[in-house]
Amino acid sequence: MPKPATFLPWLLLIASTASHAAFETRADLGRALFFDVNLSAARSQSCATCHEPARAFSDPRGAVSIGGDGRSRGTRNAPALTYAALTPPFARAPDGAFRGGFFHDGRAATLAEQAVEPIFNPLEMALEDTAALRARLAENAAYVASIALLFGDAAFAQDATLRAAVGESLAAFEQTMEFSTFDSRYDRFLRGELTLDRDEERGRALFFSSVVNCSSCHRLPEAARETFTDFTYHNIGVPRNPALAIDVDVGLGGNPLAGTAEEGKFRVPSLRNVAVTAPYMHNGVFSSLRTVLVFYNTYLLHTPLNPETGEPWGAPEVAGNISHDLLRQGQPLSMVQIDALMAFLRALTDQRYEGFVQ
Ligand code: HEC
Ligand code: HEC
Repeated sequence: MPKPATFLPWLLLIASTASHAAFETRADLGRALFFDVNLSAARSQSCATCHEPARAFSDPRGAVSIGGDGRSRGTRNAPALTYAALTPPFARAPDGAFRGGFFHDGRAATLAEQAVEPIFNPLEMALEDTAALRARLAENAAYVASIALLFGDAAFAQDATLRAAVGESLAAFEQTMEFSTFDSRYDRFLRGELTLDRDEERGRALFFSSVVNCSSCHRLPEAARETFTDFTYHNIGVPRNPALAIDVDVGLGGNPLAGTAEEGKFRVPSLRNVAVTAPYMHNGVFSSLRTVLVFYNTYLLHTPLNPETGEPWGAPEVAGNISHDLLRQGQPLSMVQIDALMAFLRALTDQRYEGFVQ
């Protein structure tokens, strides 16, 4: 039971705000929270600032996002949040391989656990503690009333239950159909609503064939609804991004539940909406999708220069445990095949983003 001294004032507040329309569902409350800049210390940014709804909830502003203070920069690229809700919780399979979880290194086991992290991250929304979050929420009577309605009268007053209520509401919003519309050209093709054009069709055949290796990581073994990731972790030898203030990002190796053997591995990202979520890789080192495809060719073909910079590809951030077995499978891609794969990847764009494809 909460101490009456802290509990009572919030109960009175709830009573006095009961006339304000509360949100009826956790997802509706989550939507309001997602767009609310008051959840950041400087009242300058919301989740949507770094997860732009018009870009599949990724950040088109650069390799890394700017914090709520207008200056801080993190060291990782903000991922798209479309289809993120389909990621399984972080777990270790019987074969020892890690799978699922949120963030590039899986350090948040679930979506609800992930959702409160940016609110308190000093480089992001930077609220000091749960008391600061409670004070900000208390400014909005509908929030107070909704949390009581949806999570119980005591939820607002206690730190753990308040954080859980906020996390679960944001997660509920991210689990709505708004984030996972399954209406790309590829989905419509699967439903028999359209025919893919020649390049898209060639790219599709190539993607799922054993001639190229993409589907050994970017495909679910058995899926009614393909996410274009098997949620495993691999080191694919991505070069360091010299624009970032970090030498080596060890990825999964920095996750306390993993170990140093996992250094350099990152969760295989979904390829849905990838044509609208540049820049690419955990560190945003590549600006164009074509560069990513040319990069994969370096494991099969002598490709000395990064076409974006005209300079040699940088050394991998972590060289030790690159998944060479999978990356050296299949045949190198010709320019015609790269064009076809590009067309297929563009066909994975949700209908509402089709105007933004690169
Ligand atoms: C300052 C920019 C910024 C803000 C604000 C921000 N995020 Fe993020 N978000 C990121 C970055 C960067 C990552 C990747 C970080 C990492 O992997 O360590 C990320 C990762 C995520 C992920 C993990 C996705 C996945 O597939 O693993 C989710 C979910 C997410 N954010 C939701 C939110 C929510 C909800 C909020 C608001 C409470 C929020 N973000 C606020 C930048 C931001
Ligand atoms: C060994 C597993 C593996 C194989 C094979 C593989 N990928 Fe990847 N892919 C990954 C991982 C892991 C990342 C993220 C790496 C990072 O962020 O450092 C990634 C990243 C990407 C990205 C960038 C996505 C983003 O949002 O940043 C694209 C695009 C991509 N892969 C497409 C492909 C295509 C096309 C193929 C086949 C030619 C392919 N991949 C083969 C594991 C793989």
